[in-house]
Order: sequence, then C-alpha cells, then structure tokens
Amino acid sequence: MSDFTLRATNVHKTFAGPKGSSVAAVNDMSLEIASGEFVALGGPSGCGKSTILLIAGGLLRPDQGEVEIMGTRPYEVDSARRASIRAKHIGFVFQQFHLVPYLDALDNVLAPTLARALPGAEDKAKALLEKFGLTERRHHVPSALSVGEQQRVALARALLLEPQLLLADEPTGNLDPENADSILDHLATFAEEGGTVLMVTHDDRAAGQASRSIRMEKGSFAESVS
Ligand SMILES: Nc1ncnc2c1ncn2[C@@H]1O[C@H](COP(=O)(O)OP(=O)(O)OP(=O)(O)O)[C@@H](O)[C@H]1O
Ligand SMILES: [Mg+2]
Repeated sequence: MSDFTLRATNVHKTFAGPKGSSVAAVNDMSLEIASGEFVALGGPSGCGKSTILLIAGGLLRPDQGEVEIMGTRPYEVDSARRASIRAKHIGFVFQQFHLVPYLDALDNVLAPTLARALPGAEDKAKALLEKFGLTERRHHVPSALSVGEQQRVALARALLLEPQLLLADEPTGNLDPENADSILDHLATFAEEGGTVLMVTHDDRAAGQASRSIRMEKGSFAESVS
C-alpha cells in the first residue's frame, strides 16, 4: 500500500485545438499528497489546474505519466474498474456544482449510490444535510437553493461515500466570505479527521486554510509556497 493518497508522476496532457494546433495543458507535472494533507493548488487562469485535478481523479487519461490513487493505478485498468476506484476513494466538488436540476437536495446527495451501493445511504445523506445546515432545504431543487446552499449540497454529495480523497475545483469561487468560510471549515475538518484534500483556488484566504500550498505555471509545478 502506498504512503500517498495521491501520486502523479511526470504527467503530460495535450489537447488538440483548431486547425491542427495543440495546447500543452499539463507538462511533466509530478505531485505527491500524503493522507491527511489539505493542499491548495493555485496559479494563473489556463495554467492547467482543472486538467490536473481531472487527471488526479481518474476522469481524464494523461498522454504520459503515472497516476496512483490509494495504491491503485486508475489508468491501467478498464473503465468499469476505474469508475469503481473513483466511487470508492474519491469525492469531487466541481466549481459549477453539477447538481442534477430535477432532483431535490436529498436525492442529489444520494446520487453517488447509483455508482456504489451504500447501506443506510438515506440516513447518511440526511445526517450530512443536517451537518451542513440544509435539513429544511432537503426537498428543494437546486434552482430553489442559494449558491452557498448548492455548494454545500455538492460537498455533501462528494462526502456521501466516505472518500479518502476530496478533489475540489474552486469550491469557494462563487461564494461570499461567510459561505466560503463554512466550506473551508468543512474541508479542514475532513482533513483533520484523516481525509486528504486537493483544492484548486485563486483565493489567498482559502489557500491560507490549507496545510500546504503549491502553485502551477503553464502546465507544470512552479513552487511550493509553504
Ligand atoms: N477539453 C479541452 N480541449 C482543449 N483545450 C483545453 C481543454 N481543457 C482545457 N484546455 C486548455 O488547457 C489549458 C489548461 O486548462 P485548465 O482548464 O486546466 O486551466 P485552469 O488552470 O483550470 O484555468 P482556470 O483558472 O481559468 O480554471 C487551457 O489553455 C485550456 O484552454
Ligand atoms: Mg479551472
């Protein structure tokens, strides 16, 4: 078993552009995150942060390089096995939430059980909604929720299957300071309880909550800030 929750080694990803052009979104990036770390990933727009997060989460195959999540290599197995690695180990919080518009908050939180059965899922989902102050909102669809509430539903959904690794892309990007602090507190608590967090953020205050900050420049690792 690896000591690292996540390890990416010499990862490259180039996207094809129009008229035969190409964009080297991630260029020879290596990253190791130990369990219990809360890592903030910063860097300018377009430097490859979301791309490396998708690669780290088993959602986007790199052109070259290796990815290891909890000792397993998601790109060396078939897509069904890769989906089960994701469901078992990883929670995602996307910048635009990606909630299902016609499901209420409770059913959105329960959506991951489509990928992996969870005994007592409904009680667990209700407990997460309670923890995030959303009990009164559990039967509201996303369009009837505030942005901060939607983000908390997205975080509850990411936590339902008890992942070891939480990948969050600008989880506070759309939030006012109060809602942002609430999300950051929940992420920090998740890490304190032994979970691992990789959070993309432009926000120095958000990065300040992390135990380590790293910065990308043009597709690669630039510096370790702390
Ligand atoms: N599916 C795609 N097809 C083509 N190019 C892409 C694709 N996804 C990303 N890119 C390009 O790859 C580069 C890195 O994109 P990425 O989304 O990872 O940046 P980012 O650091 O997350 O930026 P931001 O802070 O604006 O979210 C950009 O130049 C982007 O235009
Ligand atoms: Mg991005």
